[in-house]
Amino acid sequence: MTSFSLGDTDFLRDGRPHQVISGAIHYFRVHPDQWQDRIRKARLMGLNTIETYVAWNAHEPRRGEWDASGWNDLGRFLDLIHAEGLDAIVRPGPYICAEWHNGGLPVWLTGGTGGLRSSAPEYLVEVSAYLRRVYDIVAPRQIDRGGPVVLVQIENEYGAYGSDAAYLETLVTVTREAGITVPLTTVDQPVDRMLSNGSLPGLHKTGSFGSRSTERLATLRRHQPTGPLMCSEFWDGWFDWWGGVHHTTDVATTAADLDALLAAGASVNIYMFHGGTNFALTNGANDKGRYLPLVTSYDYDAPLDEAGNPTEKFFAFRDVIARHAPVPDELPASAAPAPALEVPLVAGGAWTTTAGSAEPTAHPETFDALGHQSALMRYDVDLPHGNGGVLLVDELRDLGWVSVDGRAVGTISRTRHDRAIRIPGGRTLSILVEDQGRVNYDHRLGEEKGLIGAVTLDGAPLSGWRSTPLDVAAIAAGIGRDAVSDAEATTAGDGPTAWTAEFELDARADLFLETASWSKGYAFVNGFFLGRYWRNGPQRTLYVPAPATVAGTNRLVVLELEQLIERRAAFVPSPSLGATEE
Ligand code: GLA
Repeated sequence: MTSFSLGDTDFLRDGRPHQVISGAIHYFRVHPDQWQDRIRKARLMGLNTIETYVAWNAHEPRRGEWDASGWNDLGRFLDLIHAEGLDAIVRPGPYICAEWHNGGLPVWLTGGTGGLRSSAPEYLVEVSAYLRRVYDIVAPRQIDRGGPVVLVQIENEYGAYGSDAAYLETLVTVTREAGITVPLTTVDQPVDRMLSNGSLPGLHKTGSFGSRSTERLATLRRHQPTGPLMCSEFWDGWFDWWGGVHHTTDVATTAADLDALLAAGASVNIYMFHGGTNFALTNGANDKGRYLPLVTSYDYDAPLDEAGNPTEKFFAFRDVIARHAPVPDELPASAAPAPALEVPLVAGGAWTTTAGSAEPTAHPETFDALGHQSALMRYDVDLPHGNGGVLLVDELRDLGWVSVDGRAVGTISRTRHDRAIRIPGGRTLSILVEDQGRVNYDHRLGEEKGLIGAVTLDGAPLSGWRSTPLDVAAIAAGIGRDAVSDAEATTAGDGPTAWTAEFELDARADLFLETASWSKGYAFVNGFFLGRYWRNGPQRTLYVPAPATVAGTNRLVVLELEQLIERRAAFVPSPSLGATEE
């Protein structure tokens, strides 16, 4: 069996100095039929290790319903890494950040348990149970038991959030008691306060940064006087949010930064090697004074793009790595254009909802209170005496379409810091509220969604709310079984509509669905939930992974919240993630 340990200046792999040259792939962001392909390409770039987070909320979306199969088959992912001859690093959180919904924490936990990321007993009970389940998978796959796992990380950038050493100690105890014997690491941004608060003696400190490598390694060295230097997140690109630009980094500059790290003898985990996709409703959000939900693509401008094709950065990194370590001669195939086709969209009928069936309550219910995990909740309330006036909400998370008796009035947007809107008189006020993604960083982690607090009309509280959860995947599944006339399809006025199309493929293929001529909504291919689209940009195409398609007839369903500018669907040869800053 191979051993892996911390030496005075290096990692020791079977007693010999070893430089970890790793890249991140999050299995939960990649179709499982494509895992092997992405891992193989990592080896071809010269990587000797693959790193992944574990997303608790993907494995256990409902309390006690643990799943480690299919998309969640972490064991299989690690076995594929092993079969490719690579090592693995596992970062189970429980908090992972990662631009992932709620930073990986399940909403049943954050909605009911206080003291997140602390030693609060009720939080620790759940976290310990979760970690034991993860380690049941990871422990037998450690390198000293014949598997690929060489390092396990405790928490994630904890020093940017808290300073509860007892919390970190408990995580370590649970980890060791579950049979994890490989070295344990922590990662923090190279800031003194964060490096001090984010770790414990006995844990190996590493850094996260994407530039100024030499300076950052020096800061890290002050906090970690012995052992290997490691950048556990070398940010080679960046993420995008709706309404922003598409972020890229200069290839030559990023490659030079990687070169500086490797030349300094540091170990590295490239974040990301292959970013993948926030399929369905899995995107996170940031809020540092302004709420900014993340787009569906997690391309990250990584060496392997969202569709698994090598980019210019791939070849530049491969050249850099070849200066420091052996790199296989074989090259991955370059991207071929995806099939291009265009089909008309056919009206799929109004959304089937159960609006109005819920029991009225004094205050609007949150998504969390109703255990609702899909994107939308509809709130209806009767207007006293049929009066209009100024509608004021304490907080609306995150975007609300306001209507009176079915007539659209306007929207209330959290990103715009809206709180009020003037409404006309009528019988019933309705607000369709979208959860646009849970915050994944800092202290808004775990916050509830929906209408929060009081809602008043000209200063008087409105009560008698009917709160109706809408499951968009279930709605999509029920759409368009029978043809619907245009008149029937548009009875919802400006409100939600559904559209379908059938298209033929000779063989399974990766596709890029153009969404630029639609407004805002959700798209599905053969029942597979591609994710959100929004003309707010920057992202203008959605990635359809080949395994979600079939040879023959495929079916697209589009749920549109506003208007379709054009009633057609187009698949285009290459992705369009939007304009960059230049
Ligand atoms: C930090 C986190 C990661 C990710 C990156 C930004 O380093 O640890 O999970 O959020 O920032 O992409």
